Amino acid sequence: MDVVSSFAVLHDSCRRNDLADPRHGARAAVLVRDLSRQGLLPMDEDGVILLEKACRTHTGGRIPEVPTVMACWDSDRLDLPRIAGVEVRVEWLGTAFAKESAFVEAATHRARAKVFPYRQIFNP
Ligand SMILES: [Fe+2]
Repeated sequence: MDVVSSFAVLHDSCRRNDLADPRHGARAAVLVRDLSRQGLLPMDEDGVILLEKACRTHTGGRIPEVPTVMACWDSDRLDLPRIAGVEVRVEWLGTAFAKESAFVEAATHRARAKVFPYRQIFNP
């Protein structure tokens, strides 16, 4: 969970723009290593390695074999409908749960409404 939640915060944090920026994942992986060296990530070295991998490769378009990385990428891909005209592509999802049509529909609705889940948690 620490890897997935840290991925949510960090994977696009080094974008230079919201358009084509194919190296943003690699820059995020460098940031992950820097934060780890400063003791600012809530995980052990194995988690840091997974988080680096998830960030570095998340723009690759394939489906990863490591379940934690798969969960990171699925969460990112399920949020893509936040961009006008973009739909979830089920063939790019890795986990069975993410591929369920009801879950894709709910994620699409949440992404288009730009609902930030923590807002619901902390301000119900
Ligand atoms: Fe990204």
